[in-house]
Amino acid sequence: MTPDLTLFARAGLPDDLKLLLARYPRESWGRDHTIGQMGSFWLQRHDMFRELGSGLVTATHELREGRMEAGAFAGWFVPRINFFLSQLEGHHQIEDQHYFPVFAAAESRLKHGFDLLDEDHHVIHDLLAANAQSARGFLGGLQSGGDALKRGSEDYARNAEQLLKGLLRHLEDEEDLIIPLILDRGEEALGVS
Ligand SMILES: [Fe+2]
Ligand SMILES: [Fe+2]
Repeated sequence: MTPDLTLFARAGLPDDLKLLLARYPRESWGRDHTIGQMGSFWLQRHDMFRELGSGLVTATHELREGRMEAGAFAGWFVPRINFFLSQLEGHHQIEDQHYFPVFAAAESRLKHGFDLLDEDHHVIHDLLAANAQSARGFLGGLQSGGDALKRGSEDYARNAEQLLKGLLRHLEDEEDLIIPLILDRGEEALGVS
């Protein structure tokens, strides 16, 4: 039986996609092998998405538990969610259009890994759209307060947690596929420096 490798079904990359990761394990990154400029910048972007994604979830819980006032919450939340949603879409577009084709061509044995990551992007794209919509409902309820706020914040929190869960899986697997390849071939030779 073929294993289900879709975003919410898998618990990491399958063994056949870990072929370079075995040679360049995570703990050796930056310690035994220097990560170049492109790789470092890209990892920083991933960390920013992790931090911001979980920050949005945490702040929503704070609001629901009454530890944050609605006006202050909106002032914090609106620019951050807009930034998060648009930057993440842009990040995926660059990967799909520029990086994945370069990496897949450099190592044909990992090509199906890039197809997998590309499929993740579609799943995440739909989650982002759902997230934007539930955020709008949530912000509408923020002004009305009461039940509307309760329902809106519950719906948004559910949505944001699902998005974060998928995103964290995706980011980790993407790094496990790409960083070893970059370390093995070098950014300059790959043409991504
Ligand atoms: Fe990605
Ligand atoms: Fe990425």
